[in-house]
Amino acid sequence: MKKVYLETYGCQMNVSDSERVASQLVSNGFEIVAEQIDADVVLLNTCSVREKAEQKLYTRVGQIRAAAPPVGSGIGETPIIGVMGCVAQLEGETIFARRAAASGGNNNGGIDFILGTKAVGRIVETIEKALDGRRNFADLDKREDDYDWSVSAAQRHSRHVAFVPIIEGCNKFCTYCIVPFARGREKSLPAAEIIRQIELLKSQNVREVHLIGQNVNSYRPTSDAGLENFRGATAFSCLLRAVAATGIERVKFTTSFPRDFHADIVDALDEHENLCNWVHLPVQSGSNEVLKAMRRGHTIESYLEKIDKIKSSAKSIAVTSDIIVGFPGETDKNFEDTLKMAEYCRFDSAYIFKYSPRLETLAARMENQTPETVKTERFLELEKIVRQSQSAALQKHLGATLKVLAERASTKNIDELSGHTTCHKIVNFKAAGTLPGSVVPVKITAVKTNTLYGETSE
Ligand code: SAH
Ligand code: SF4
Ligand code: F3S
Repeated sequence: MKKVYLETYGCQMNVSDSERVASQLVSNGFEIVAEQIDADVVLLNTCSVREKAEQKLYTRVGQIRAAAPPVGSGIGETPIIGVMGCVAQLEGETIFARRAAASGGNNNGGIDFILGTKAVGRIVETIEKALDGRRNFADLDKREDDYDWSVSAAQRHSRHVAFVPIIEGCNKFCTYCIVPFARGREKSLPAAEIIRQIELLKSQNVREVHLIGQNVNSYRPTSDAGLENFRGATAFSCLLRAVAATGIERVKFTTSFPRDFHADIVDALDEHENLCNWVHLPVQSGSNEVLKAMRRGHTIESYLEKIDKIKSSAKSIAVTSDIIVGFPGETDKNFEDTLKMAEYCRFDSAYIFKYSPRLETLAARMENQTPETVKTERFLELEKIVRQSQSAALQKHLGATLKVLAERASTKNIDELSGHTTCHKIVNFKAAGTLPGSVVPVKITAVKTNTLYGETSE
């Protein structure tokens, strides 16, 4: 039985792709192994969103090959290394040459095949081809019409939480972003199929589903099959109500695109206990000038209106965000507007990114690129504000009892379990016989940087 090791970088869509690839491999007689050193085939599922993420591919191949030195010409080395994900799709066969240059002229540079983001359904035949001795080939072709989006229970990243893709690709072309090039145009999955999958997951005792996609709220299926009995101002809010009606314990969704974030989403959250108290709404900048140059399609005023609507909910909905600092042409004044925005929004947490120029994107060709030193200064200044609101958001739970889904043993302390609240905060807690997979009340007794600590009597 051939052994495959899968390493995944990037967003939930990549995690989900890896789960489906692993499912397919196992049902075709391959074994998934936990250690790279045991593998006949190593698959690297890559991300290209920032330069650092992309660089990772080349360093990892170097490390893997160093652990198993090349034999002769470099052809026929073990393990076989295949590249999947966004770098694979964007760079295709040029990866062979780039890696060869970096590794001193080996003829395939240690990479054996490239599998694009829509080609993942052909992983079995691809690996078989490589095992038969074929090398240096790429499959960047389109997805099969009958592609199977399901994941076998054993291959999910968690036993109790499942990712369910509802829309793939992106049509937005924000000027800094590589994703539309790597993932193609938006395509929504049929609602009836999504509901069927969630019902199946529920019957397998999965407690929490995450509806995933680059922009979940741009969901627009070609037919309303599965949504007929549900109302909603948009197809996405209809879908939320339909998913809530399955009765699965918890439903989360990410990412929401601010321009398409309809107030009815908040109404749906208010109506259904099992639609969780968390919205991830990446703002990117607090300055209208910068937002326009980014082509985000929202203004800061329209964004803040949506924040106000979310915060007006009786449910106490947590809001998280992504912010880019040092976009080309971002002035001190523009950045101050971002600081003000962050002070106003008081995010439960926010990822801050230094702008990273990506080949092919419009912003990479803009003239007034921001110096790295300025990006770093701005990063640190914004981080202070985000840390304050993040810490306040955690502190407010001290002494309270929160419902936590017990997901797994804590990595730090074997006597503790770790899980998430409905507002997506991590809680480590003393287990007292709690079984993983149950939702238990946890009294919060301590707060650290990103984590709540507590104990349960159940
Ligand atoms: N679809 C989501 C997120 C996509 S990528 C959205 O529209 O918000 C995740 C995050 O990476 C983005 O929100 C953005 O903050 C960041 N990002 C994307 N491209 C980037 C770049 N070139 N440089 C720095 N950060 C970037
Ligand atoms: Fe990238 Fe913008 Fe699409 Fe998000 S919406 S994936 S930031 S292009
Ligand atoms: Fe990265 Fe591709 Fe996701 S670029 S963030 S893995 S869609």
